[in-house]
Amino acid sequence: MKIRSVVKGALTFVPGMQRVLPKPHASKNPPTAYYYGVWLKHVALLHANGLHHSPKSVAELGPGDSLGIGIAALLCGAQCFYGLDVVAHTEPAHNLKVLEELADLLRRRAPRPSKGWPDFDPYLDDGKFPSEVLTAAGLSASLAPQRIDNIRKMLANSLETSEGMTLAYQVPWNNSDVIKENSMDLILSQAVLEHVTDISQTYQAMYQWLAPGGVMSHQIDFRSHDLTKEWNGHRAIPDWLWNIMVGKRAYLINCEPWSAHQAAITNAGFEIVCAMQQYRTDGIPRSRLAQKWRAMTDDDLNCSEVFVQARKPLAA
Ligand SMILES: C[S@@+](CC[C@H](N)C(=O)[O-])C[C@H]1O[C@@H](n2cnc3c(N)ncnc32)[C@H](O)[C@@H]1O
Repeated sequence: MKIRSVVKGALTFVPGMQRVLPKPHASKNPPTAYYYGVWLKHVALLHANGLHHSPKSVAELGPGDSLGIGIAALLCGAQCFYGLDVVAHTEPAHNLKVLEELADLLRRRAPRPSKGWPDFDPYLDDGKFPSEVLTAAGLSASLAPQRIDNIRKMLANSLETSEGMTLAYQVPWNNSDVIKENSMDLILSQAVLEHVTDISQTYQAMYQWLAPGGVMSHQIDFRSHDLTKEWNGHRAIPDWLWNIMVGKRAYLINCEPWSAHQAAITNAGFEIVCAMQQYRTDGIPRSRLAQKWRAMTDDDLNCSEVFVQARKPLAA
């Protein structure tokens, strides 16, 4: 484990220290192309899995440094977006820049930026764009200048609603009342569900927000987020030391393996439609796992990432 991870956590226990410690970074200010690629990946895979792919209402958990995903959703035809975070990472000026760049990428139907994981190239056209789901006709309507002007106006003036559109950034969100029950078509997240403190409560909230037949799409990263040298080294840390590392930070990582997410998703009432797993065998061996994780399955031990899509049943 890296000493600085322990020191950072321990410092949060010192009275008054949290006010002076730097705010946690969501990520390292990814370029607009990152959000473009993430959005294309989620929509292309939703389409590939036969799930709702032209959502009117979208929520994102943990948008991070910009509202790029929400802006992309609105530019592709959604009327309503909620971004829910626990720390305010985004700035209006940055979001305005991302808006102009995303509008340009979508107008040009620019190819997806990089391959990454999971691979969604089989669902793209020859120009590496998901034109089956983001059709030329659909984009020409959704990218109408007056829609873009309206999004620009909302971002510039921090307006949550304007001309029938919603663009809300809720920070922190503390309970499930922040979004109306049965109101969302799509909820997504990228590299967030490994950070939430209580995964069961979070999946239950998402179930509550989704309309019957609504879908969710998440990529979850089970790696140690640079807290340790080995990708799964966090699972060697005993509870007492882990509690110091977490300290009073707004979030760290929850360490829950894929099977715990799978159980929480199905217990909340969802049907899992697709679960793609990425495996690694170069981490710490079972013999080095902390007592708490010793009995974990080989699948959990070696699973470094998951891309999961699930549906709230129509007859819910
Ligand atoms: C690794 S960053 C990912 C940000 C963004 N999705 C991206 O791909 O760049 C994790 C994000 O999850 C947020 N987060 C942590 N706990 C959360 C929670 N319980 N609910 C919503 N967001 C949360 C963090 O504040 C941060 O914005």
